[in-house]
Amino acid sequence: MSATYLSAEDLKTQLRQHLAKDLHLVNRILAEQLRTSSGFVSDITEHVSRFRGKQLRSMLLLLTHRMVGGEVTTQSRMLAAAVEMIHTATLVHDDVIDEAETRRHVATVHRRWNTETSVLLGDYLFSRSFQLAASTGDAEACRLIGLATNRTCEGELNQMAAGLEDSTSEIDYFRIVRDKTGQLFGLSCLLGGRAAGGSDAQQRTVRRFGLRLGMAFQIADDVLDLNGPEDVTGKDAGNDLQNNRRTLPIMRAIHLVPEQDRSRIRQILAEELPEKLAGHAEIQAGIRSALDTADTLTERAIADLASFPACPDRRLLEAIASFAVRRDA
Ligand code: IPE
Ligand code: IPE
Ligand code: MG
Ligand code: MG
Repeated sequence: MSATYLSAEDLKTQLRQHLAKDLHLVNRILAEQLRTSSGFVSDITEHVSRFRGKQLRSMLLLLTHRMVGGEVTTQSRMLAAAVEMIHTATLVHDDVIDEAETRRHVATVHRRWNTETSVLLGDYLFSRSFQLAASTGDAEACRLIGLATNRTCEGELNQMAAGLEDSTSEIDYFRIVRDKTGQLFGLSCLLGGRAAGGSDAQQRTVRRFGLRLGMAFQIADDVLDLNGPEDVTGKDAGNDLQNNRRTLPIMRAIHLVPEQDRSRIRQILAEELPEKLAGHAEIQAGIRSALDTADTLTERAIADLASFPACPDRRLLEAIASFAVRRDA
């Protein structure tokens, strides 16, 4: 594991201090983008602006820009706001698909309003983010954003297909998490490296860092679905099982028990209350095995950064990578 490990609180404080000016400006761009004269639209956009998430994708773009070189530009801040809006759009739609009740500690948009509103809000956020990216005048950045968003949607669609086919293949799982989560992380780092004028090789390297980090982050999210208390994660516990999603900790839990005991574990998965799942030794073993894999991805992600000069930005990127697996929310 990397030498750079900060507690979640210390990391949050350091990121907020280090990126204070840029994050403030990114949030100002987001607020401007979501301003509208329609009372109803602004009620809903206010809901998603008020209950902000960790804003990791924006931070990755800003930190990568700084690590690769130079002052963050207005264009980079606009792109950082655009990736955050795309991320929020995917969450609003994801919550409809997953029939989730809670997001960021409050009712999901479809629970607070209705499904139709969620579908349209997601569309609105996608279209606003593409408009914002286009207004930078950087056609290549728009193309990259389009590509990564396509792959994100493909990941969600393939996840749906895996559920319908009852697939328990790890190859399918890794392809899905690389797309649905890794792509936006990779894009954020790539856009930062590109905006800083990084070489092709540097751009490829930071994108790979983001992809690996995103995959580790999603594996940790799948673990939190099994053992994370709702009042800490701010979202429904056990949602993956409820939707028959075979995530890595679940696949590993099943795989690790002998064939003759698998019916017992299937029964636990089908019948146990979400808050009691992690109390079962078999589930614990699956969680440990999945986190080991996430750790390996994180170590590789951190190793990707070795060719960049040691600087506070690189150190914070490494700390985010360590946090991705150890986090509780
Ligand atoms: C949630 O992402 C969706 C996943 C990729 C697991 P985040 O955990 O980054 O969500 P927010 O933006 O902080 O709420
Ligand atoms: C969602 O994965 C990833 C994307 C939104 C593309 P999850 O369904 O696991 O995310 P949460 O747990 O709802 O945040
Ligand atoms: Mg979900
Ligand atoms: Mg999840």
